[in-house]
Amino acid sequence: MRLPVQVPGLGGWSEDPAWASVYDWTVEHPRAGGLLWRLGVGSSLPMLYAASDEIGGQPAGARVLDIPSGGGVALRGLRPGQGVDYVAADISPAMLDRTMAAARHRGVADQVTPQVADVGDLPFDDASFDLVVSFTGLHCFPDPRRAVAEMTRVLRPGATITGSALCTDTGVRYEPMRRVGRAAGLIGPACATSDIVAWLDERGLREVTLQVSGAIAYFRAVRE
Ligand SMILES: C[S@@+](CC[C@H](N)C(=O)[O-])C[C@H]1O[C@@H](n2cnc3c(N)ncnc32)[C@H](O)[C@@H]1O
Repeated sequence: MRLPVQVPGLGGWSEDPAWASVYDWTVEHPRAGGLLWRLGVGSSLPMLYAASDEIGGQPAGARVLDIPSGGGVALRGLRPGQGVDYVAADISPAMLDRTMAAARHRGVADQVTPQVADVGDLPFDDASFDLVVSFTGLHCFPDPRRAVAEMTRVLRPGATITGSALCTDTGVRYEPMRRVGRAAGLIGPACATSDIVAWLDERGLREVTLQVSGAIAYFRAVRE
């Protein structure tokens, strides 16, 4: 349920509200941010970092889509000299600037192309990526089902999608945080864990797995 009022002055993600840089700071600081992360969403920040390891397994020449790239947290999985064509996409140009700053800091900027994009209407051809990563994203999108449809559309046969999302059925203790997020315009309608599995199934993906950690669900699936 969306609250009838929006907290004034914050704006949506594309307007780079103050919360966006606060959020990015937390994910980039494993100690202080990790504590806030554990208190806020009951999950471990290293689990987010570990989920990006899948990127490091891609061979030279592979094409990876990271949407939403945010401040570039998933770049932890990309190795200098790996030879991957890594497209970092986000609706917020300011977030993409943070991604590119992180890419330069990690020595992987030569592999990363920033692209402003709305996940609901991706400017990429069908079957054009070997891996799509979407961390902490689905709950921020206005139509998470359409986002899953778009992100799976661009997967090549045999390619993988992996990601995470704040879900609606991971515990009532997280409901106040979800309501504040919705009022601030940072969280959309979101979805339940069963929705993610159903949406991946309906797109014909196989090997669908989902693991809940606090308020967050981590999912992974492979395109036929
Ligand atoms: C919570 S952050 C997650 C970023 C990063 N993946 C992470 O785990 O730290 C959510 C991101 O979603 C982006 N976003 C929101 N709506 C979007 C949309 N419709 N299309 C693409 N990106 C969007 C925001 O700009 C923001 O960078």
